[in-house]
Amino acid sequence: MTKRDLIALEEWGLGEVEDLLGLAARVKRGEVRGGLEGKLLAAVFLDPSLRTRASMEAAMFLHGGHAIVLEPGKGSWAWETEKGVVMDGATVEHIAEAAPVLGRYADVIGLRSFPRGGDWATARRDAIIRDFAAYCGKPVVNLESARRHPCQELADALTLRERLGDPRGRRFVLSWAWHPKQLPTAVPASAALAAARNGMDVVIARPPGYDLDPDDLAAVRGLAAATGGSVAVTDDLDDALQGAAAVYPKSWGALDLFGNPEADLARRAPHRDWRMTAARLGAMDRGVVLHCLPVRRNVEIDDAVLDSPQSAVVDEAENRLHVQRALLLTLLGAA
Ligand code: CP
Repeated sequence: MTKRDLIALEEWGLGEVEDLLGLAARVKRGEVRGGLEGKLLAAVFLDPSLRTRASMEAAMFLHGGHAIVLEPGKGSWAWETEKGVVMDGATVEHIAEAAPVLGRYADVIGLRSFPRGGDWATARRDAIIRDFAAYCGKPVVNLESARRHPCQELADALTLRERLGDPRGRRFVLSWAWHPKQLPTAVPASAALAAARNGMDVVIARPPGYDLDPDDLAAVRGLAAATGGSVAVTDDLDDALQGAAAVYPKSWGALDLFGNPEADLARRAPHRDWRMTAARLGAMDRGVVLHCLPVRRNVEIDDAVLDSPQSAVVDEAENRLHVQRALLLTLLGAA
């Protein structure tokens, strides 16, 4: 039997994802107990985390399983992820061995691996998570890679449904935001995919020079076509927000300047006002505000917005736990 990985949610069928979201809602209502007794998750973080780490550990515990968490380079050997490299530097263990070894111990492996510099043409291949999955004999869950954050995407889809009832045909604005650092596009791409999965009219508002990868945009358009939604791109944030049902302020870097943060900082310098403010919230149709967290207050989103009842960011973070419980139950055959 072939193992099942979750690297990009759109690689699963629409019906399979609906089943996951349905199970997540039942799990959240307390209708599903146990199911992971004797099962082990190995969660590996090449990059920091609060929500992903805590919610994966909690999910295993709540269903009777156990999680081990590894941070290579901090208490376990530093990993090499490049193929064919001469390992005479800081890295000690190649994922070609680490992945299959963990697969011998654990029933499912999670991996967080942000992009590691270079150019976008290389990073967009998402080689670390895909190579790791190929080396590993057990299901691999992407805990955020260069291209996707599928667990966040599931939580975003569930949160939009909870807050909006039926989100179909409602406007969802993915709003680029200024940020002092050059951030990856995994979360904004996944957020747009979540809204498209919900049949929403997705508007991506960004300044010139900040387009998402064309393949990611095509994936969003493909999902929207399948669910009755739509996709538009604009550089007029205030127009996009008029009457919108949901906004997802999020920063991301310019892909043609990937790996060149100084040049990106200079390009985005005129766009410091791309920030979610109380005035912008007021222009929406009692709109809900999402963000994956962590969020830089008064940089991406103002205090008045984050502290308003329209902010769903904590519910959204809670939903990470429930969707991952559903995912682990499904991957480990307990659902
Ligand atoms: N949203 C999210 O993945 O949070 P962490 O980076 O804290 O895991």
